[in-house]
Amino acid sequence: MNNYKPTILIIIGISGDLSKRKLLPAIGQIAATGMIPDQFKIIGVTRQKGIRIDDLLEYTTNKGYIYQNTMMFNMDLTDPKDFERLQNYLEDIEKEFGNESQYIFYLSVPPTVSKSIVELIGLSGMAKKEGTKLLLEKPFGVDLKSAVDLVEHIDKYFSIEQVYRIDHYLAKETAQNIIVFRNGNSLFKKTWNKDFIEKIEVTVSEEIGIEGRANFYEQTGALRDLIQSHLLQLLALTLMELPKEGQFDQVPSLRYDALKALKIPIEKSLVAHAKRGQYNGYREEVGNNESMVETFASIDLESSDPRWEGVKIRLTTGKALKEKYTEIKIYYKKDNENESNELHLRLQPDEGISFSVWAKRPGYEHQVSRHALNFSFKDHFTSIPDAYEQVLFNAINGDHSLFSSSEEVTETWKVIDGLQKAWETSTYDIILYKKGSTIEEIIG
Ligand code: BG6
Repeated sequence: MNNYKPTILIIIGISGDLSKRKLLPAIGQIAATGMIPDQFKIIGVTRQKGIRIDDLLEYTTNKGYIYQNTMMFNMDLTDPKDFERLQNYLEDIEKEFGNESQYIFYLSVPPTVSKSIVELIGLSGMAKKEGTKLLLEKPFGVDLKSAVDLVEHIDKYFSIEQVYRIDHYLAKETAQNIIVFRNGNSLFKKTWNKDFIEKIEVTVSEEIGIEGRANFYEQTGALRDLIQSHLLQLLALTLMELPKEGQFDQVPSLRYDALKALKIPIEKSLVAHAKRGQYNGYREEVGNNESMVETFASIDLESSDPRWEGVKIRLTTGKALKEKYTEIKIYYKKDNENESNELHLRLQPDEGISFSVWAKRPGYEHQVSRHALNFSFKDHFTSIPDAYEQVLFNAINGDHSLFSSSEEVTETWKVIDGLQKAWETSTYDIILYKKGSTIEEIIG
């Protein structure tokens, strides 16, 4: 018998794409490593009748485990009686276990329905049960006001410790490495400030378009979908103070402090500091000829933290671009033309780190050229766990360090609030770009 707590994972919206592509494969993988509770069951909640677990295993390698440990449960997500029925069902499973179990509710449903589900779990009394947890997928609201409302709503039924807000980028192995790398290398630790660093750029470039998510994307756009969440969180990991030795539970509040100091200087010039674009063909795809929704966004930020005063910061993301990659680039200050160094933290694909140095070119003259010192994870490790494995493992074991707190979420909305409003009212500055463009081709 292992030491992990008996657990019932209730996936609300199990028939959706997320559980098919990410959640079920991730649980299969955790089980394959043996790091899953011995007493573990998945309850697949869906409104649709006739869905079987076999229909959802296309991407799962450990099919046998999921098949044996999943039970489907049909219910109406708006009916309190059905929540009572669910509660009785969970209690019966606990009786079979012969042990108290934690209930983990994973809400894999559109944000429009999650609010009432939270309420119905709360009213059923299940939220108050010892060990119950609530896992929420982004987006957390659509702007500052709705995010604050949502936080207040959830606070009525769940305590802070019970809630896990997922930003899967925080759980990517290479994002977790940012803190470890900064902490473990004294050269970089000592120079991680405005005296040595000129500029920081975080980029998430995607090859895919909106993949049929027309409704979702028309209400979202690149600023809300990626900048408000993944890019600002990667930036926070880059700018924050390091936690005290091994104290990873401090990380969310350190990220929050870094976020609090950020501002987009649009009052200086909206167009110079915030650029938006849309790929050609997007309007036909969503069936809206006048859509001003951006599929590309690039914004400059400033930090008021004295450690980062004057450092240029840029976040860029876009869909239907030439390449897929996520990268943090740190540009070191130069003393003369040849002496600038760059550190690249590559989060995906080809995860790794490279650092550019200058070296003398062989020959009679004193000429130098720039070369990269390169480290690739794939040369040293055979596999990198998927972010959702980490998300589920940490939630089962009550580790909050890889989740965004409600304070962080509202702070990220605050950072983009002025820009969101400015873009809602200005119609002239959208750059139309060809699918397959590079970032340079879009914004120079
Ligand atoms: C999601 C966004 O949160 O992240 C998607 O909603 C985006 O639009 C995706 O494509 C990117 O995640 P990853 O892990 O594929 O880089």
